[in-house]
Amino acid sequence: MLKMVLAGATGFIGQKLTSRLLDSQISVVVLTRNPASGRTTKHARLSYGQWDGKNQGDWTKHIDGAEAVVNLSGQSVASRWWSKTRKQELYSSRIDSTNALVEAIGASTVKPSVFLNASAVGYYGHVEQGAVTEDHPPGNDFLGRLCADWESAALSARAFGVRVVLLRTGIVLGSEGGALQRMIFPFELFAGGPLGSGDQWFPWIHEEDEVRAILYAIGRSSLSGPVNLSAPESTTMREFSNALGRALHRPSALRIPAFLLRALLGEMADVVLSGQRIVPQKLMKEGFEFSFPTLPGALADLLRGKLSSFPRGF
Ligand SMILES: NC(=O)c1ccc[n+]([C@@H]2O[C@H](COP(=O)([O-])OP(=O)(O)OC[C@H]3O[C@@H](n4cnc5c(N)ncnc54)[C@H](OP(=O)(O)O)[C@@H]3O)[C@@H](O)[C@H]2O)c1
Repeated sequence: MLKMVLAGATGFIGQKLTSRLLDSQISVVVLTRNPASGRTTKHARLSYGQWDGKNQGDWTKHIDGAEAVVNLSGQSVASRWWSKTRKQELYSSRIDSTNALVEAIGASTVKPSVFLNASAVGYYGHVEQGAVTEDHPPGNDFLGRLCADWESAALSARAFGVRVVLLRTGIVLGSEGGALQRMIFPFELFAGGPLGSGDQWFPWIHEEDEVRAILYAIGRSSLSGPVNLSAPESTTMREFSNALGRALHRPSALRIPAFLLRALLGEMADVVLSGQRIVPQKLMKEGFEFSFPTLPGALADLLRGKLSSFPRGF
């Protein structure tokens, strides 16, 4: 039976990926720092390996003979003020976990066919104009440098003859958790609107397409290196905010200016103030078809349950 190892898969994207793999009769080992946490579930083909995201240990035995290894580990970039210590944690939770997996892959007897490592469109930094395909250079801000180092750690697995895919993901919109659920809150209070000028690009992807694209990349031996995971439709922050307001029957006029966001969030405000017009060129060239290529369709799907309990405002 085909086995895949997923690290950091107790989170938002990983839980959905795990359940899709289990549905496809694949056996899954999830590497987690805390197998006893409430975020773990039970399934006959699902097991857990304990690791610390840094060091080699008993968990490395799971890598041997796995068809694919997927690394989704990393502390959330949008949950706490980016102090110097916090930045170090954001960095090491990604680079250390990637290095540990690459080392384990190198030491395994039967190596995986493919290693997929999370990355983000933050790799490109803020790009005001022009289409951003996978060959665009990295940005020079904190996230740009972090993603570049993260990717270069992952690419070391190529030395062992393993195909490496770098998942340069946009903002994943989901029906539970993730950025969308956090962005809905001000709209519920009739206080929604664009963040910053609203002119910045807002590269997004529906959670279903995120998981489908990861599965596609696992099976597509011609895909390697960086792959943009973002809907083909270009959307600005203002367009996103208007679409969200319309979907929720709420106003979307209350813009929060950039200076206020910077005062409240510090450098972390870059996560929402910077953007890029991402083009998922490699996926499209390979013939990947998005289930949710446009925002109204994606929001209608993701907010379906929510809207039935949502009083109409405007
Ligand atoms: N969600 C998005 O919109 C988005 C967009 C672009 C890129 N990404 C990237 O994609 C990956 C997965 O995203 P997600 O939203 O699913 O993240 P998530 O919900 O925050 O889950 C990430 C997982 O990483 C593990 N982790 C946290 N801190 C760690 C540490 N210090 N060392 C090792 N592992 C640690 C945790 O697993 P355990 O507690 O079980 O160890 C956690 O479940 C992340 O690397 C994220 O940066 C996400």
